[in-house]
Amino acid sequence: MTQDLFPGDPTLRSTAQALDASDPLASFRAEFYHSDPQQCYLDGNSLGKLPLATMEAVSKFVTEEWGSQLVGGWSHWIDQPQVAGDLLATATLGTGPGQTLVCDTTSVNLYQLALAAIDALPERSTVIIDSANFPTDRYILQGIAKARGLTLITLDTDGSGGPGALSLEVEDERITAADIAAYLSDDVALVILQAINYRSGARPELGAITAAVKKAGAYMLWDCSHAGGVIDLDFDGNGIDLAVGCTYKYGNSGPGSPAWLFVRTALQKKLQVPIQGWFAQGEQFEMGPDFEKASGIRGFQTATPSIVGIRAVETSYEMIERAGIGRIEAKAALGTQLMIALVDAWLAPFGVTLGTPRQPDHRGGHIIIRHPDAASIALALRKLVNVVPDYRQPDAIRLAISPLPTSYTEVWDGFDRLRGLLASGDYHGVEPESSRVT
Ligand SMILES: Cc1ncc(COP(=O)(O)O)c(C=O)c1O
Repeated sequence: MTQDLFPGDPTLRSTAQALDASDPLASFRAEFYHSDPQQCYLDGNSLGKLPLATMEAVSKFVTEEWGSQLVGGWSHWIDQPQVAGDLLATATLGTGPGQTLVCDTTSVNLYQLALAAIDALPERSTVIIDSANFPTDRYILQGIAKARGLTLITLDTDGSGGPGALSLEVEDERITAADIAAYLSDDVALVILQAINYRSGARPELGAITAAVKKAGAYMLWDCSHAGGVIDLDFDGNGIDLAVGCTYKYGNSGPGSPAWLFVRTALQKKLQVPIQGWFAQGEQFEMGPDFEKASGIRGFQTATPSIVGIRAVETSYEMIERAGIGRIEAKAALGTQLMIALVDAWLAPFGVTLGTPRQPDHRGGHIIIRHPDAASIALALRKLVNVVPDYRQPDAIRLAISPLPTSYTEVWDGFDRLRGLLASGDYHGVEPESSRVT
């Protein structure tokens, strides 16, 4: 796919309204709770909106299951991470059952699978990540490398450096298979990249990179946090064996909702995660003296799952399954294309630049724009004109379309208000709030 011309005049609100009128996903918006109908919420890639069905499912769980069944509920709650994992895999990962668990956090799952992969190749001692990767991925791999005495290569795609940094010139942080090939050797055990970069929104070559890393005899672990639920990850088509991701972004499952991990069936026997919890024990309730890993994906579970969290995951991923990940990806592509057309038409004259690939299949559901005053503009968007983006150091504002709850008109209105803010200069002097969160 190459860069398409935006269909229609992006500067007219009627264009966005026409897109909504013909949007096959338009009806899903009414299935979400919108506390302020005037707000343009363009941060669904950070925390997704609340589905109405989740309110009911969680409340029903609390009273009719936890409240009434008490400990007896475990007889049918116990394998919920696998049931929800299968649903998530069918709805968003393009792969079959028995390979996905909804459990723990992305960070814990990343640690688990990274070490399992490294331990499976004891004769190799190099691990690779990129400097534009999400901090938790970089810090966890740094910790593992230090503890195990491994050589860490940080592909420096954004100039921020890091341990073992090697400069790599790429556009918008987007890594290709050819870029990776130069660093692969028979000493590399593991490569960790994001399926959609958290900041630039770039989508690397999932299939080609996976193939190159596997050909070199190493493991490829994808962090799909910003990709899951917004693009068709096609794990089977892309040959993806190991992956983790969260459910609270495009998965709309709530703050801190359980994350997921994926281990392809063919690897499940070979890999052993470092946290040998009791949920991975074959005969779990015999509570015997020695650990003997359960067969199948349960061998990768650590501990008691959050059932209330899983209920929220279930309602959201049932919606995604109904909508169809192909239609969701198509809306994300068109919505981000509308954003890019408006950056060009309205924002560029104010010194705003685009930090995201223009080719639709090189990105996901969010873009970043850069401006020297990004921090105060992002703040003013929230405080003065009721638009919710987020800010990423040092000069980036992230803006997303979450295809189920967000309309094209909401995107258009958000950009119109941003244009007004830049034109008025009212963002100068907006006082920051006392929060650690940007
Ligand atoms: C790409 C990516 N990976 C990992 C995480 C961390 O997830 P958690 O804090 O749920 O472990 C995030 C959080 O936003 C993320 O964006």
